[in-house]
Amino acid sequence: MGRMADVNDPIRSDWWRHAVVYQVYVRSFADSDGDGIGDLPGITARLPHLADLGVDALWITPFYTSPQHDHGYDVADYEDVDPLFGTLADADDLIARAHELGLRVVVDLVPNHTSNEHEWFRAALAAGPGSPERARYLFRDSPEGKPAGTPPNNWSSVFGGPAWTQVDDGQWYLHLFDSSQPDLDWRNPEVPAMFEGVLRFWLDRGVDGFRVDVAHGLFKEASLRDQVVEPGGTPVSGAGEMVERKVTDEPMWDQPEVHEVYRSWHRILDEAGPDRMAVAEAWTQTVESMAAFVRPDELDQTFNFAWLLADWSAESFSEVITSTLASVESIDAAPTWVLSNHDVMRHVTRYGGGAQGLARARAATLTMLALPGSSYLYQGEELGLEQVDVAPEDRQDPSYLRTGEVGRDGCRVPIPWGGTEAPYAFGPGTAQPWIPQPADWAPLTVEAQAADPSSTMAFYRDALRIRRDFAWTAGEDVTMLDAGDDVVAFTRGPVTVVLNCGTTPVELPEGELLLASGPVDGTLPPDTAAWLH
Ligand code: NOJ
Ligand code: MG
Repeated sequence: MGRMADVNDPIRSDWWRHAVVYQVYVRSFADSDGDGIGDLPGITARLPHLADLGVDALWITPFYTSPQHDHGYDVADYEDVDPLFGTLADADDLIARAHELGLRVVVDLVPNHTSNEHEWFRAALAAGPGSPERARYLFRDSPEGKPAGTPPNNWSSVFGGPAWTQVDDGQWYLHLFDSSQPDLDWRNPEVPAMFEGVLRFWLDRGVDGFRVDVAHGLFKEASLRDQVVEPGGTPVSGAGEMVERKVTDEPMWDQPEVHEVYRSWHRILDEAGPDRMAVAEAWTQTVESMAAFVRPDELDQTFNFAWLLADWSAESFSEVITSTLASVESIDAAPTWVLSNHDVMRHVTRYGGGAQGLARARAATLTMLALPGSSYLYQGEELGLEQVDVAPEDRQDPSYLRTGEVGRDGCRVPIPWGGTEAPYAFGPGTAQPWIPQPADWAPLTVEAQAADPSSTMAFYRDALRIRRDFAWTAGEDVTMLDAGDDVVAFTRGPVTVVLNCGTTPVELPEGELLLASGPVDGTLPPDTAAWLH
Protein backbone atom coordinates (compact mmCIF):
# COMPACT_ATOMS: atom_id res chain seq x y z
CA MET A 1 0.00 0.00 0.00
CA GLY A 2 1.72 3.18 -1.10
CA ARG A 3 1.80 6.34 0.91
CA MET A 4 0.77 9.67 -0.55
CA ALA A 5 3.76 11.36 -2.07
CA ASP A 6 3.57 14.42 0.14
CA VAL A 7 3.60 12.55 3.43
CA ASN A 8 7.34 12.45 3.92
CA ASP A 9 9.92 13.75 1.59
CA PRO A 10 12.08 11.86 0.79
CA ILE A 11 9.84 8.82 1.17
CA ARG A 12 11.61 6.26 3.27
CA SER A 13 9.95 2.93 3.68
CA ASP A 14 12.20 2.37 6.69
CA TRP A 15 11.35 5.79 8.16
CA TRP A 16 11.41 4.37 11.68
CA ARG A 17 15.14 3.52 11.56
CA HIS A 18 16.11 7.06 12.54
CA ALA A 19 12.79 8.46 13.66
CA VAL A 20 12.11 10.56 16.71
CA VAL A 21 8.83 9.23 18.07
CA TYR A 22 6.76 11.29 20.50
CA GLN A 23 4.66 9.35 22.99
CA VAL A 24 1.17 10.71 23.56
CA TYR A 25 -0.49 9.50 26.76
CA VAL A 26 -4.01 10.05 25.53
CA ARG A 27 -5.72 10.86 28.86
CA SER A 28 -3.23 13.61 29.59
CA PHE A 29 -2.32 15.26 26.31
CA ALA A 30 -5.22 17.54 25.36
CA ASP A 31 -8.93 17.56 26.14
CA SER A 32 -11.37 18.75 23.48
CA ASP A 33 -14.71 18.38 25.25
CA GLY A 34 -14.09 19.76 28.73
CA ASP A 35 -14.53 16.50 30.67
CA GLY A 36 -11.01 16.87 32.06
CA ILE A 37 -9.75 13.82 30.16
CA GLY A 38 -7.61 14.02 27.05
CA ASP A 39 -9.14 12.62 23.85
CA LEU A 40 -8.52 12.00 20.15
CA PRO A 41 -9.91 15.31 18.84
CA GLY A 42 -7.71 16.99 21.48
CA ILE A 43 -4.65 15.28 20.00
CA THR A 44 -5.67 16.20 16.45
CA ALA A 45 -6.03 19.84 17.41
CA ARG A 46 -2.54 19.86 18.93
CA LEU A 47 -0.72 18.01 16.13
CA PRO A 48 0.86 21.27 14.91
CA HIS A 49 2.83 21.37 18.18
CA LEU A 50 4.41 18.04 17.27
CA ALA A 51 5.08 19.06 13.70
CA ASP A 52 6.70 22.31 14.90
CA LEU A 53 8.75 20.46 17.46
CA GLY A 54 10.13 18.40 14.60
CA VAL A 55 9.32 14.81 15.58
CA ASP A 56 8.72 12.20 12.89
CA ALA A 57 5.94 10.18 14.47
CA LEU A 58 3.63 9.89 17.40
CA TRP A 59 2.81 6.79 19.41
CA ILE A 60 -0.60 7.01 21.07
CA THR A 61 -1.32 4.92 24.18
CA PRO A 62 -4.50 2.79 24.08
CA PHE A 63 -7.71 4.62 23.22
CA TYR A 64 -9.87 1.53 22.67
CA THR A 65 -13.07 0.65 24.51
CA SER A 66 -12.04 0.00 28.08
CA PRO A 67 -13.33 0.26 31.64
CA GLN A 68 -10.08 2.19 32.31
CA HIS A 69 -8.90 0.18 35.30
CA ASP A 70 -5.36 0.50 33.90
CA HIS A 71 -6.16 3.57 31.82
CA GLY A 72 -6.77 1.74 28.58
CA TYR A 73 -4.26 -1.11 28.97
CA ASP A 74 -7.37 -3.15 29.81
CA VAL A 75 -9.07 -3.43 26.43
CA ALA A 76 -12.71 -4.52 26.12
CA ASP A 77 -12.96 -4.02 22.35
CA TYR A 78 -9.80 -3.83 20.23
CA GLU A 79 -11.64 -2.50 17.19
CA ASP A 80 -13.47 0.47 18.62
CA VAL A 81 -12.69 3.76 20.36
CA ASP A 82 -13.74 4.37 23.95
CA PRO A 83 -16.45 7.06 24.06
CA LEU A 84 -14.26 8.86 26.60
CA PHE A 85 -11.73 9.45 23.81
CA GLY A 86 -14.01 9.84 20.79
CA THR A 87 -15.12 7.67 17.89
CA LEU A 88 -13.60 5.67 15.07
CA ALA A 89 -14.23 8.68 12.84
CA ASP A 90 -12.09 10.75 15.24
CA ALA A 91 -9.31 8.16 14.93
CA ASP A 92 -9.55 8.38 11.12
CA ASP A 93 -9.36 12.18 11.29
CA LEU A 94 -6.35 12.06 13.57
CA ILE A 95 -4.48 9.66 11.26
CA ALA A 96 -5.34 11.70 8.16
CA ARG A 97 -4.35 15.02 9.74
CA ALA A 98 -1.09 13.58 11.08
CA HIS A 99 -0.20 12.28 7.62
CA GLU A 100 -0.93 15.67 6.10
CA LEU A 101 1.55 17.14 8.55
CA GLY A 102 4.17 14.50 7.67
CA LEU A 103 3.78 12.66 10.97
CA ARG A 104 3.52 8.87 11.18
CA VAL A 105 1.08 7.29 13.63
CA VAL A 106 1.93 4.33 15.85
CA VAL A 107 -0.85 2.81 17.95
CA ASP A 108 -0.64 0.61 21.01
CA LEU A 109 -1.51 -3.08 20.85
CA VAL A 110 -2.24 -4.95 24.08
CA PRO A 111 -2.02 -8.69 23.34
CA ASN A 112 -0.96 -10.15 26.71
CA HIS A 113 -4.30 -9.64 28.41
CA THR A 114 -7.78 -8.31 27.77
CA SER A 115 -10.07 -6.40 30.08
CA ASN A 116 -12.32 -8.47 32.31
CA GLU A 117 -15.11 -6.70 30.42
CA HIS A 118 -14.01 -8.12 27.05
CA GLU A 119 -16.78 -10.33 25.60
CA TRP A 120 -14.40 -13.31 25.71
CA PHE A 121 -13.86 -12.99 29.44
CA ARG A 122 -17.55 -12.50 30.18
CA ALA A 123 -18.27 -15.63 28.13
CA ALA A 124 -15.53 -17.50 30.00
CA LEU A 125 -17.06 -16.67 33.36
CA ALA A 126 -20.53 -17.66 32.17
CA ALA A 127 -19.46 -20.92 30.51
CA GLY A 128 -17.74 -22.52 33.49
CA PRO A 129 -14.77 -24.85 34.07
CA GLY A 130 -13.55 -26.99 31.19
CA SER A 131 -15.34 -24.92 28.51
CA PRO A 132 -13.74 -23.70 25.26
CA GLU A 133 -14.54 -20.17 26.46
CA ARG A 134 -12.32 -20.59 29.53
CA ALA A 135 -9.56 -22.06 27.36
CA ARG A 136 -8.84 -18.64 25.84
CA TYR A 137 -7.49 -17.56 29.23
CA LEU A 138 -5.42 -19.31 31.90
CA PHE A 139 -8.03 -20.73 34.26
CA ARG A 140 -6.76 -23.37 36.71
CA ASP A 141 -7.94 -25.16 39.86
CA SER A 142 -6.19 -25.03 43.22
CA PRO A 143 -3.35 -27.58 43.25
CA GLU A 144 -4.46 -31.09 44.28
CA GLY A 145 -3.80 -31.90 47.89
CA LYS A 146 -3.40 -28.25 48.85
CA PRO A 147 -5.97 -26.52 51.07
CA ALA A 148 -8.88 -24.84 49.28
CA GLY A 149 -8.00 -21.22 48.64
CA THR A 150 -4.46 -22.02 47.48
CA PRO A 151 -3.73 -20.37 44.12
CA PRO A 152 -2.42 -22.58 41.29
CA ASN A 153 1.15 -21.32 41.68
CA ASN A 154 3.23 -18.80 43.60
CA TRP A 155 3.40 -16.04 40.97
CA SER A 156 2.78 -12.44 41.93
CA SER A 157 1.28 -9.62 39.89
CA VAL A 158 3.55 -6.88 38.53
CA PHE A 159 1.19 -4.49 40.30
CA GLY A 160 1.60 -6.32 43.64
CA GLY A 161 -0.33 -9.13 45.33
CA PRO A 162 -1.04 -12.56 43.88
CA ALA A 163 -1.23 -13.08 40.11
CA TRP A 164 -4.38 -15.19 40.54
CA THR A 165 -7.98 -14.31 41.32
CA GLN A 166 -10.57 -16.93 42.26
CA VAL A 167 -14.03 -16.91 40.67
CA ASP A 168 -17.30 -18.11 42.20
CA ASP A 169 -16.99 -21.73 41.09
CA GLY A 170 -13.55 -22.04 42.71
CA GLN A 171 -11.34 -21.80 39.61
CA TRP A 172 -8.60 -19.18 39.39
CA TYR A 173 -7.49 -17.07 36.46
CA LEU A 174 -4.02 -15.68 35.90
CA HIS A 175 -3.38 -11.93 35.66
CA LEU A 176 0.22 -10.76 35.60
CA PHE A 177 -1.13 -7.22 36.05
CA ASP A 178 -4.40 -6.09 37.66
CA SER A 179 -7.21 -8.55 38.37
CA SER A 180 -9.18 -6.61 35.71
CA GLN A 181 -6.56 -7.73 33.12
CA PRO A 182 -6.86 -11.53 32.63
CA ASP A 183 -3.94 -13.03 30.69
CA LEU A 184 -4.78 -14.76 27.42
CA ASP A 185 -3.63 -18.30 26.59
CA TRP A 186 -1.51 -17.80 23.47
CA ARG A 187 -1.31 -21.59 22.98
CA ASN A 188 -5.00 -21.47 21.98
CA PRO A 189 -5.13 -20.78 18.20
CA GLU A 190 -8.16 -18.53 18.61
CA VAL A 191 -5.95 -15.97 20.35
CA PRO A 192 -3.36 -15.40 17.61
CA ALA A 193 -6.18 -15.44 15.05
CA MET A 194 -7.99 -12.65 16.90
CA PHE A 195 -4.91 -10.43 17.03
CA GLU A 196 -4.09 -10.96 13.37
CA GLY A 197 -7.52 -9.51 12.70
CA VAL A 198 -6.87 -6.58 15.02
CA LEU A 199 -3.57 -5.79 13.28
CA ARG A 200 -5.29 -5.80 9.88
CA PHE A 201 -8.14 -3.66 11.18
CA TRP A 202 -5.81 -0.82 12.21
CA LEU A 203 -3.48 -1.22 9.23
CA ASP A 204 -6.49 -0.81 6.97
CA ARG A 205 -7.32 2.41 8.79
CA GLY A 206 -3.89 3.70 7.87
CA VAL A 207 -1.75 3.38 10.97
CA ASP A 208 1.99 3.21 10.33
CA GLY A 209 2.92 0.93 13.18
CA PHE A 210 2.27 -0.69 16.52
CA ARG A 211 3.81 -0.49 19.94
CA VAL A 212 3.42 -3.98 21.38
CA ASP A 213 2.58 -3.96 25.08
CA VAL A 214 4.29 -6.57 27.28
CA ALA A 215 5.75 -8.16 24.15
CA HIS A 216 7.83 -10.60 26.20
CA GLY A 217 4.84 -11.82 28.18
CA LEU A 218 2.42 -13.59 25.87
CA PHE A 219 3.63 -17.12 26.57
CA LYS A 220 4.21 -18.53 30.02
CA GLU A 221 6.04 -21.80 30.66
CA ALA A 222 3.32 -24.33 29.76
CA SER A 223 3.47 -26.14 33.11
CA LEU A 224 2.72 -22.87 34.97
CA ARG A 225 5.19 -24.17 37.57
CA ASP A 226 6.15 -22.20 40.65
CA GLN A 227 8.78 -19.51 40.29
CA VAL A 228 11.94 -20.61 42.06
CA VAL A 229 12.74 -18.11 44.80
CA GLU A 230 15.61 -18.07 47.26
CA PRO A 231 14.78 -19.46 50.70
CA GLY A 232 12.82 -16.81 52.54
CA GLY A 233 12.36 -14.76 49.33
CA THR A 234 9.07 -13.63 47.82
CA PRO A 235 8.03 -14.28 44.22
CA VAL A 236 8.37 -11.20 42.02
CA SER A 237 7.03 -10.59 38.52
CA GLY A 238 9.01 -7.45 37.96
CA ALA A 239 8.23 -6.52 34.38
CA GLY A 240 10.68 -3.72 34.87
CA GLU A 241 8.27 -0.84 35.04
CA MET A 242 7.42 -1.33 38.68
CA VAL A 243 10.08 -3.45 40.33
CA GLU A 244 13.82 -3.50 40.05
CA ARG A 245 14.94 -6.77 38.46
CA LYS A 246 16.21 -9.05 41.18
CA VAL A 247 14.93 -12.36 39.91
CA THR A 248 16.59 -14.82 37.63
CA ASP A 249 13.89 -17.47 37.36
CA GLU A 250 11.10 -16.08 35.20
CA PRO A 251 8.72 -18.79 33.98
CA MET A 252 6.19 -16.02 33.21
CA TRP A 253 8.34 -14.03 30.77
CA ASP A 254 10.36 -14.28 27.59
CA GLN A 255 9.47 -17.81 26.45
CA PRO A 256 10.82 -18.96 23.06
CA GLU A 257 7.35 -19.54 21.56
CA VAL A 258 6.64 -15.81 21.50
CA HIS A 259 8.96 -15.31 18.54
CA GLU A 260 6.73 -17.34 16.22
CA VAL A 261 3.96 -14.79 16.85
CA TYR A 262 6.21 -11.93 15.79
CA ARG A 263 7.24 -13.80 12.63
CA SER A 264 3.58 -13.98 11.65
CA TRP A 265 3.04 -10.30 12.48
CA HIS A 266 6.05 -9.42 10.39
CA ARG A 267 4.31 -11.04 7.40
CA ILE A 268 1.08 -9.13 8.08
CA LEU A 269 2.94 -5.82 8.31
CA ASP A 270 4.78 -6.60 5.09
CA GLU A 271 1.54 -7.32 3.28
CA ALA A 272 0.22 -3.94 4.34
CA GLY A 273 3.18 -2.10 2.89
CA PRO A 274 6.94 -1.73 3.16
CA ASP A 275 6.69 1.17 5.58
CA ARG A 276 4.74 -0.40 8.46
CA MET A 277 6.58 -1.17 11.67
CA ALA A 278 6.25 -2.55 15.17
CA VAL A 279 8.18 -1.76 18.33
CA ALA A 280 8.25 -4.16 21.27
CA GLU A 281 7.92 -3.28 24.91
CA ALA A 282 10.00 -6.15 26.22
CA TRP A 283 11.56 -5.78 29.65
CA THR A 284 13.93 -8.69 29.13
CA GLN A 285 16.87 -9.49 31.38
CA THR A 286 19.70 -8.78 28.94
CA VAL A 287 20.40 -6.75 25.81
CA GLU A 288 20.97 -10.05 23.99
CA SER A 289 17.49 -11.42 24.75
CA MET A 290 16.10 -8.00 23.82
CA ALA A 291 17.80 -8.26 20.43
CA ALA A 292 15.99 -11.55 19.71
CA PHE A 293 12.75 -9.58 19.26
CA VAL A 294 14.22 -7.62 16.36
CA ARG A 295 15.70 -10.38 14.25
CA PRO A 296 15.11 -9.62 10.56
CA ASP A 297 11.88 -11.61 10.33
CA GLU A 298 10.38 -10.38 13.63
CA LEU A 299 9.57 -6.92 14.96
CA ASP A 300 11.44 -3.81 13.82
CA GLN A 301 12.41 -2.26 17.11
CA THR A 302 12.36 -2.82 20.82
CA PHE A 303 12.60 -0.23 23.56
CA ASN A 304 16.03 -0.10 25.11
CA PHE A 305 15.26 0.38 28.77
CA ALA A 306 18.92 -0.02 29.74
CA TRP A 307 19.42 3.61 28.66
CA LEU A 308 16.68 4.82 30.98
CA LEU A 309 17.92 2.64 33.85
CA ALA A 310 21.55 3.86 33.58
CA ASP A 311 22.83 5.94 36.50
CA TRP A 312 24.16 9.43 36.05
CA SER A 313 27.70 8.35 35.30
CA ALA A 314 29.88 8.36 32.22
CA GLU A 315 30.70 4.73 32.82
CA SER A 316 27.05 3.62 32.87
CA PHE A 317 26.06 5.63 29.81
CA SER A 318 29.10 4.51 27.84
CA GLU A 319 28.52 0.89 28.77
CA VAL A 320 24.89 1.03 27.59
CA ILE A 321 25.88 2.67 24.31
CA THR A 322 28.55 0.07 23.59
CA SER A 323 26.49 -2.98 24.55
CA THR A 324 23.36 -1.75 22.77
CA LEU A 325 25.17 -1.11 19.52
CA ALA A 326 26.94 -4.47 19.74
CA SER A 327 23.69 -6.34 20.34
CA VAL A 328 21.88 -4.95 17.31
CA GLU A 329 24.85 -4.84 14.95
CA SER A 330 25.00 -8.52 14.10
CA ILE A 331 21.31 -8.59 13.13
CA ASP A 332 21.32 -5.20 11.39
CA ALA A 333 18.50 -3.88 13.57
CA ALA A 334 18.07 -0.21 14.46
CA PRO A 335 18.76 0.61 18.11
CA THR A 336 16.34 2.70 20.15
CA TRP A 337 16.75 5.03 23.11
CA VAL A 338 14.31 6.33 25.69
CA LEU A 339 14.59 8.34 28.91
CA SER A 340 10.98 8.76 30.02
CA ASN A 341 7.59 7.18 29.50
CA HIS A 342 4.25 6.83 31.30
CA ASP A 343 5.54 4.02 33.52
CA VAL A 344 8.69 5.55 34.99
CA MET A 345 9.72 8.63 36.92
CA ARG A 346 10.32 11.61 34.62
CA HIS A 347 14.03 11.93 33.94
CA VAL A 348 14.41 15.48 35.31
CA THR A 349 13.32 14.10 38.68
CA ARG A 350 15.29 10.86 38.31
CA TYR A 351 18.44 12.94 37.91
CA GLY A 352 17.74 14.83 41.14
CA GLY A 353 15.14 17.43 40.15
CA GLY A 354 15.43 21.21 40.27
CA ALA A 355 17.96 23.12 38.18
CA GLN A 356 20.54 20.33 38.30
CA GLY A 357 17.99 17.65 37.39
CA LEU A 358 16.87 19.72 34.42
CA ALA A 359 20.45 20.38 33.28
CA ARG A 360 21.22 16.66 33.46
CA ALA A 361 17.98 15.76 31.71
CA ARG A 362 18.75 18.11 28.83
CA ALA A 363 22.30 16.77 28.62
CA ALA A 364 21.18 13.13 28.57
CA THR A 365 18.57 13.99 25.93
CA LEU A 366 21.10 15.71 23.70
CA THR A 367 23.45 12.74 23.99
CA MET A 368 20.62 10.36 23.12
CA LEU A 369 19.50 12.35 20.10
CA ALA A 370 22.94 12.05 18.50
CA LEU A 371 22.98 8.26 18.67
CA PRO A 372 22.03 6.18 15.63
CA GLY A 373 18.58 4.62 15.61
CA SER A 374 15.41 6.13 16.98
CA SER A 375 14.65 8.06 20.10
CA TYR A 376 11.35 7.92 21.92
CA LEU A 377 10.26 11.10 23.71
CA TYR A 378 7.48 11.26 26.29
CA GLN A 379 4.97 14.10 26.24
CA GLY A 380 5.99 16.95 28.53
CA GLU A 381 9.70 16.17 28.55
CA GLU A 382 10.12 18.90 25.94
CA LEU A 383 8.74 21.24 28.61
CA GLY A 384 11.17 19.97 31.25
CA LEU A 385 8.29 18.74 33.40
CA GLU A 386 9.12 17.04 36.66
CA GLN A 387 7.43 14.11 38.32
CA VAL A 388 4.49 15.47 40.34
CA ASP A 389 3.84 14.43 43.92
CA VAL A 390 0.18 13.49 43.41
CA ALA A 391 -1.93 13.60 46.59
CA PRO A 392 -3.03 10.15 47.80
CA GLU A 393 -6.72 10.92 47.15
CA ASP A 394 -5.94 11.79 43.51
CA ARG A 395 -3.86 8.69 42.70
CA GLN A 396 -5.42 6.29 40.23
CA ASP A 397 -2.69 3.87 39.22
CA PRO A 398 -3.93 0.30 39.86
CA SER A 399 -0.54 -0.56 41.34
CA TYR A 400 -1.13 2.12 43.99
CA LEU A 401 -4.61 0.78 44.61
CA ARG A 402 -3.21 -2.77 45.03
CA THR A 403 -0.19 -1.97 47.18
CA GLY A 404 -0.50 1.50 48.67
CA GLU A 405 2.93 2.33 47.19
CA VAL A 406 3.23 5.53 45.13
CA GLY A 407 2.69 4.46 41.54
CA ARG A 408 2.94 6.08 38.14
CA ASP A 409 0.41 8.93 38.46
CA GLY A 410 3.16 11.52 38.93
CA CYS A 411 4.38 11.24 35.32
CA ARG A 412 0.82 11.27 33.94
CA VAL A 413 -0.29 14.75 34.97
CA PRO A 414 -2.01 16.59 32.09
CA ILE A 415 0.10 18.84 29.86
CA PRO A 416 0.06 22.61 30.45
CA TRP A 417 -0.56 24.34 27.11
CA GLY A 418 -1.07 27.97 28.09
CA GLY A 419 -2.55 30.43 30.56
CA THR A 420 -1.44 31.10 34.08
CA GLU A 421 -3.43 28.66 36.16
CA ALA A 422 -4.83 25.14 36.01
CA PRO A 423 -6.09 23.69 33.70
CA TYR A 424 -3.47 25.67 31.71
CA ALA A 425 -5.55 25.29 28.52
CA PHE A 426 -5.46 21.50 28.81
CA GLY A 427 -9.14 21.65 27.93
CA PRO A 428 -11.71 24.33 27.22
CA GLY A 429 -12.91 26.53 30.05
CA THR A 430 -12.04 25.94 33.64
CA ALA A 431 -12.84 22.24 33.90
CA GLN A 432 -10.06 20.68 35.97
CA PRO A 433 -8.19 17.66 34.59
CA TRP A 434 -8.41 14.12 35.94
CA ILE A 435 -5.20 14.56 37.92
CA PRO A 436 -4.70 18.06 39.36
CA GLN A 437 -1.84 20.09 37.89
CA PRO A 438 0.67 21.90 40.12
CA ALA A 439 0.06 25.57 40.90
CA ASP A 440 3.54 26.60 39.70
CA TRP A 441 3.37 25.40 36.09
CA ALA A 442 2.59 28.78 34.46
CA PRO A 443 6.20 29.34 33.27
CA LEU A 444 6.31 25.80 31.84
CA THR A 445 3.38 25.97 29.44
CA VAL A 446 3.88 25.48 25.72
CA GLU A 447 2.73 29.06 25.22
CA ALA A 448 5.23 30.48 27.72
CA GLN A 449 8.14 28.42 26.37
CA ALA A 450 7.35 29.27 22.75
CA ALA A 451 8.09 32.89 23.60
CA ASP A 452 11.46 32.11 25.19
CA PRO A 453 14.43 31.11 22.98
CA SER A 454 16.27 29.70 26.00
CA SER A 455 13.40 27.43 27.05
CA THR A 456 13.65 23.66 27.19
CA MET A 457 11.09 23.49 24.39
CA ALA A 458 13.23 25.72 22.18
CA PHE A 459 16.19 23.48 23.00
CA TYR A 460 14.30 20.35 21.90
CA ARG A 461 13.22 22.09 18.70
CA ASP A 462 16.79 23.13 17.92
CA ALA A 463 18.12 19.66 18.66
CA LEU A 464 15.53 17.99 16.43
CA ARG A 465 16.13 20.44 13.61
CA ILE A 466 19.89 19.93 13.66
CA ARG A 467 19.50 16.18 14.06
CA ARG A 468 17.40 16.07 10.91
CA ASP A 469 20.42 17.20 8.94
CA PHE A 470 22.57 14.26 9.97
CA ALA A 471 20.23 11.48 11.08
CA TRP A 472 20.23 9.74 7.70
CA THR A 473 23.71 10.65 6.56
CA ALA A 474 26.04 10.37 9.55
CA GLY A 475 26.01 6.58 9.39
CA GLU A 476 25.43 4.15 12.22
CA ASP A 477 29.01 3.71 13.36
CA VAL A 478 29.84 5.20 16.70
CA THR A 479 33.44 5.52 17.87
CA MET A 480 33.85 5.97 21.59
CA LEU A 481 36.57 8.46 22.57
CA ASP A 482 38.56 8.54 25.76
CA ALA A 483 37.96 11.91 27.43
CA GLY A 484 38.47 10.85 31.04
CA ASP A 485 36.40 8.96 33.60
CA ASP A 486 33.65 11.54 33.93
CA VAL A 487 32.99 12.19 30.27
CA VAL A 488 30.99 10.32 27.66
CA ALA A 489 32.51 11.15 24.28
CA PHE A 490 31.98 9.68 20.84
CA THR A 491 31.90 10.51 17.20
CA ARG A 492 29.24 9.54 14.73
CA GLY A 493 30.23 10.50 11.22
CA PRO A 494 31.05 14.21 11.27
CA VAL A 495 29.41 14.80 14.66
CA THR A 496 31.33 14.71 17.94
CA VAL A 497 29.32 14.39 21.15
CA VAL A 498 30.54 15.11 24.68
CA LEU A 499 28.65 14.76 27.94
CA ASN A 500 30.19 15.91 31.20
CA CYS A 501 28.91 13.75 34.07
CA GLY A 502 31.57 15.02 36.46
CA THR A 503 31.78 18.00 38.80
CA THR A 504 34.38 20.18 37.08
CA PRO A 505 34.42 21.77 33.61
CA VAL A 506 36.22 19.85 30.85
CA GLU A 507 37.75 20.97 27.60
CA LEU A 508 35.54 21.02 24.53
CA PRO A 509 36.89 19.03 21.58
CA GLU A 510 37.85 20.83 18.36
CA GLY A 511 35.08 21.74 16.01
CA GLU A 512 32.21 24.05 15.34
CA LEU A 513 29.69 24.00 18.20
CA LEU A 514 26.34 22.87 16.79
CA LEU A 515 24.36 22.89 20.00
CA ALA A 516 24.83 22.57 23.75
CA SER A 517 22.31 21.52 26.37
CA GLY A 518 23.21 24.52 28.56
CA PRO A 519 25.56 27.51 28.63
CA VAL A 520 29.14 26.82 27.46
CA ASP A 521 32.04 29.24 27.22
CA GLY A 522 35.14 27.59 25.88
CA THR A 523 34.79 24.68 28.32
CA LEU A 524 32.00 22.20 28.93
CA PRO A 525 30.50 22.68 32.42
CA PRO A 526 29.28 19.77 34.56
CA ASP A 527 25.86 18.33 33.69
CA THR A 528 26.13 19.61 30.14
CA ALA A 529 26.42 17.99 26.71
CA ALA A 530 27.44 19.41 23.36
CA TRP A 531 27.40 18.49 19.69
CA LEU A 532 30.30 19.65 17.54
CA HIS A 533 30.91 19.41 13.85
C1 NOJ B 1 3.01 -1.75 30.06
C2 NOJ B 1 2.32 -0.44 29.95
O1 NOJ B 1 3.24 0.52 29.50
C3 NOJ B 1 1.77 -0.14 31.31
O2 NOJ B 1 1.30 1.18 31.42
C4 NOJ B 1 0.69 -1.14 31.60
O3 NOJ B 1 0.20 -0.94 32.92
C5 NOJ B 1 1.22 -2.57 31.50
N1 NOJ B 1 2.03 -2.75 30.34
C6 NOJ B 1 0.08 -3.56 31.43
O4 NOJ B 1 -0.57 -3.49 30.18
MG1 MG C 1 -12.12 14.86 26.89
